[in-house]
Amino acid sequence: MDKKLLIVANWKANKVEVTDWLQQFAALSAQMGDINDQVEVVVAAPTPLLFLLAASNITAAQDISEFSGGAYTGETTGEVLKEVDVSYCLIGHSERRKYFGENNGIVAKKFAQALAAGITPIVCAQSWEEIPEEVRAADTGAYYLMYEPFSAISTDGQYHAESGEAVDQVLLQWQAKLPPDVRLLYGGSVNPENVSDYVKIELVSGFVVGHASLDPNEFFSIINKCLSPKTFS
Ligand code: PGA
Repeated sequence: MDKKLLIVANWKANKVEVTDWLQQFAALSAQMGDINDQVEVVVAAPTPLLFLLAASNITAAQDISEFSGGAYTGETTGEVLKEVDVSYCLIGHSERRKYFGENNGIVAKKFAQALAAGITPIVCAQSWEEIPEEVRAADTGAYYLMYEPFSAISTDGQYHAESGEAVDQVLLQWQAKLPPDVRLLYGGSVNPENVSDYVKIELVSGFVVGHASLDPNEFFSIINKCLSPKTFS
């Protein structure tokens, strides 16, 4: 393994029995020895469940407020997310854009809030145009970009995976226009059957896994397939 992969479980708006999930995941990991030098695993849980993950040091958020604090009822700021040790945050997920009207302007503000709070942004985009100018021009490469073709996002576990070649082409185009230290993730119907097609792509630095992360066994089998040495062809 020539680089450490970031593998994000995105539980979306699903209720997961967090303690059971963590116990099962820990038992599976223990069988593999120390996997932490090869992969970093984080869980983007619904906000009220984040505190249950804090002790495990694997806490990610699915969203962050565009505001730094104050009279914005219902918002969760970067400062508050840090109270439960959030270290990564998804920003501008296609479902936020589709169902909650998030546009590039909002994504750019959330990106800035995450950086200000010391949270690593994972900016999600379906196309180059969905990467805000402010992100492209940021004076830091300390963030992730997640390519997520909307057609490939599963619905109720119905997978519509993109081909590895198509993903490779898009990431090559993006990388050519970005600072070299920006890391690229892929998300969209990643599951134990197809992850091997993506992990061999040189530019892929990890995955965001939605439906297949709800079951710790399925999620762990994805991770397990990422542990073998890369054979990029
Ligand atoms: P999926 O979701 O793996 O269920 O397609 C990925 C995502 O939307 O983050």
